[in-house]
Amino acid sequence: MDDRNLAVTGFMGTGKSAVGQALAQRMGRQFVDTDALIEDRTGLSIPDIFAIHGEAHFRQVEAEVCQELSQRSGLVIATGGWTLGTPENRQALERSSMVVCLLADQQTLIERIARAEGRPMLQAEMWELRLRQLLMERLPTYYSFPLQVDTSGLGVSAVVDRILHYWTTFSDHSLPSTLPVITNDNAYSVFVGKGLLDRVGALTMGHGRWTQMVHASDTVVGPLYSDRLAQSLSESAAAVAGEKGLRIGTGQMLSGEQHKTLAAVSGLFEQFLSAGLDRRGLVLALGGGVVGDVVGFAAASYLRGVSLVQIPTTLLAMVDASVGGKTGVDLPAGKNLVGAFKQPVFVVCDPDVLQTLDPAEMRSGMAEVAKAGVIGSPRLFQHLETHSQLDYDWLVREAVAVKIDVVQTDPFEHGRRAVLNLGHTFGHALETLSGYQIRHGEAVAMGMVVAARLSRELGHCSTDTEDRIHSLLQKLELPTRLPAYAPETIWAAMATDKKARGGELRFVLPRAIGDVGIFDGIPQGKVMETLQQLQHSE
Ligand SMILES: NC(=O)c1ccc[n+]([C@@H]2O[C@H](COP(=O)([O-])OP(=O)(O)OC[C@H]3O[C@@H](n4cnc5c(N)ncnc54)[C@H](O)[C@@H]3O)[C@@H](O)[C@H]2O)c1
Ligand SMILES: [Zn+2]
Repeated sequence: MDDRNLAVTGFMGTGKSAVGQALAQRMGRQFVDTDALIEDRTGLSIPDIFAIHGEAHFRQVEAEVCQELSQRSGLVIATGGWTLGTPENRQALERSSMVVCLLADQQTLIERIARAEGRPMLQAEMWELRLRQLLMERLPTYYSFPLQVDTSGLGVSAVVDRILHYWTTFSDHSLPSTLPVITNDNAYSVFVGKGLLDRVGALTMGHGRWTQMVHASDTVVGPLYSDRLAQSLSESAAAVAGEKGLRIGTGQMLSGEQHKTLAAVSGLFEQFLSAGLDRRGLVLALGGGVVGDVVGFAAASYLRGVSLVQIPTTLLAMVDASVGGKTGVDLPAGKNLVGAFKQPVFVVCDPDVLQTLDPAEMRSGMAEVAKAGVIGSPRLFQHLETHSQLDYDWLVREAVAVKIDVVQTDPFEHGRRAVLNLGHTFGHALETLSGYQIRHGEAVAMGMVVAARLSRELGHCSTDTEDRIHSLLQKLELPTRLPAYAPETIWAAMATDKKARGGELRFVLPRAIGDVGIFDGIPQGKVMETLQQLQHSE
């Protein structure tokens, strides 16, 4: 019998107290509400404490209450809306409790709060604006809790069912690392953890009430992992009251970049239709970057958009493709020419599935991990330099964090997001020239070698930085010598690629490990000279 506390947290209006009380009743436990404890202790109502003693005093009493509760067990706790915004309070409660964060979409919250507190008649717009602002400020915290229940459209007992399902699913206390991604109007989480594939069902239950689910994969990944995913989905549906009739369907596409086509998308539409997928259905994309892009695009366009969960199974897809919301397909004229932005409901990365990945695919993905290190994480870069046994759990999390950081500051690719193209301007040219015989990651590795040399030549980085990048790529068994295409040919391929995308030829160059810059107007002569130098060295 698990004696841990069960704590419920979340923004005001998510129903913490009502849910906490109902949970306590269902579990036969004592219920405590931190705000009520604070009122008892001070003999004042919360608004009076704020008015008489100020917020600082309130937070101090709140912290004491959290420390005391962390010494107790067997309780159901409801916290105040921002109690766990303080790291010490959060640590105290997470030590002693399973913490579940309640969420709701903005509209639902505003309606619930207005109903409970009475919307001020005057300045109603200001009130709403302030509430939305406060929520946006706090979203990164709420979406960093591993266990979340989106309460929009759910009654109290349906929320309780989902929390109790988490309670059993995560009874071994192993929770995923959880990285929040803030989008323009909302947020989602990337969950990283070994063995998580078998728990996706519980996460889907926590994030909505679905009319049906379709998990789609490719002909290589499907036979390896679809059964486990399907089992997790159906077990969770069976465990949550009210969801027993949930229909679960399958979709499949052929494996490989050559199938990243509109035909594959149509194939999926057919399968969605025969599964009876409607507007309130959920699609789960299980596979590498190709599956993520194709199934993601199908989900973005089917019935003008159904909800999507991304379950990337290659290293590249985990650290790169699954975050940022880009989906799409290739056209005969070029790669990724058709697509849409589609933010997932959540992303699940289970590093255990990398064990079956072809070693060459793994190396290729490592190029993107190294790239993440150069762009924004010196400690990730150093981990790669110094460890022979790599910790994939940690490494995926760290690389994803870099991508999230970049994407968040530039969700629609207007500026800073370009730094993700480190090594790609040259890399794409080499990929194209080789007729895609050179793997993406290999091309990116060679591209990073060029970027590092060019940067040093122009005085933007030190010799040491260039050497470290070069040595790390060699250690990762990635190619660092350029193929013998004439520099003019490589330049022309880069220029064509840029023109096709309507961009200008700009270069992302390392300034140091963990710091890159975007440079325009680098003379063609300088680039050609660097390419020549590299082709003739060693
Ligand atoms: N949307 C984005 O932001 C974004 C970013 C980067 C790349 N991409 C796209 O991603 C694609 C490349 O992705 P990729 O490198 O993952 O290729 P991929 O999806 O083709 O996967 C590579 C191969 O590995 C197989 N595979 C996948 N997971 C496996 C596993 N766990 N065990 C065994 N085999 C497995 C696949 O079936 C495939 O044959 C490109 O099309 C690229 O454009 C998209
Ligand atoms: Zn890439």
